[in-house]
Amino acid sequence: MSNGFFIAFEGGEGAGKSTHSKRLAEYLTSLGHDVVVTREPGGTGTAEKIRNVLLDPEVTDLPNQAEALLFAAARADHAWNKIRPALERGAIVICDRYIDSSAAYQGGGRGLGVNFVRQISEWATGTLLPDFTIYMEVPLEDSGNRMEGEDRMEIQSRDFHRKVHETFVEIAATNPRPHAVIDATQSKDDVAAEIRRIIDTALSSR
Ligand code: TYD
Repeated sequence: MSNGFFIAFEGGEGAGKSTHSKRLAEYLTSLGHDVVVTREPGGTGTAEKIRNVLLDPEVTDLPNQAEALLFAAARADHAWNKIRPALERGAIVICDRYIDSSAAYQGGGRGLGVNFVRQISEWATGTLLPDFTIYMEVPLEDSGNRMEGEDRMEIQSRDFHRKVHETFVEIAATNPRPHAVIDATQSKDDVAAEIRRIIDTALSSR
């Protein structure tokens, strides 16, 4: 069994997940932990190649089923080749998006079914689940304004992003595993401090 600790950041677009995963990584590193900060889709050479396909706005004819399987394929490579080995050597892994993103975007947004999509990723990863999930919550209107790029997922309709948002709220509310919902509209420093407190507590009780 691994003795590492796996933290996932989840939420809609523009909630500051990547900023705060990096800030948390810096904090935990300063405490002397072995920390791996990574992201999905991506995190390995192969998964980053799959990411390029998934986020390419010129890819306009990808069936929803292919999209779901490509996210799961990228995740399988990432889980087996990077996350599991890091956890096995005892590292803290911080991942910007993980299975809940597939559940919300492909399960909810694309209408493929939250549980079905989750099962695909659980199979793909050998049921590697986060020890702790941080949901970064921003109102739907704000996340639209905070979207920076124009990748293939960001340019989906408002209706799609509304469904993703509603599904994340539902997923966070029903998650039986350790998690926290953070109000990401607070100042960056307040958000970072709240995350540090929550993870300090989670790590000390493991
Ligand atoms: P990214 O630039 O990493 O988004 P963000 O900065 O908002 O975190 O792009 C990832 C996009 O892919 C984002 O729109 C969410 C989407 N996505 C899925 O649809 N399913 C998934 O399983 C994952 C991991 C991401």
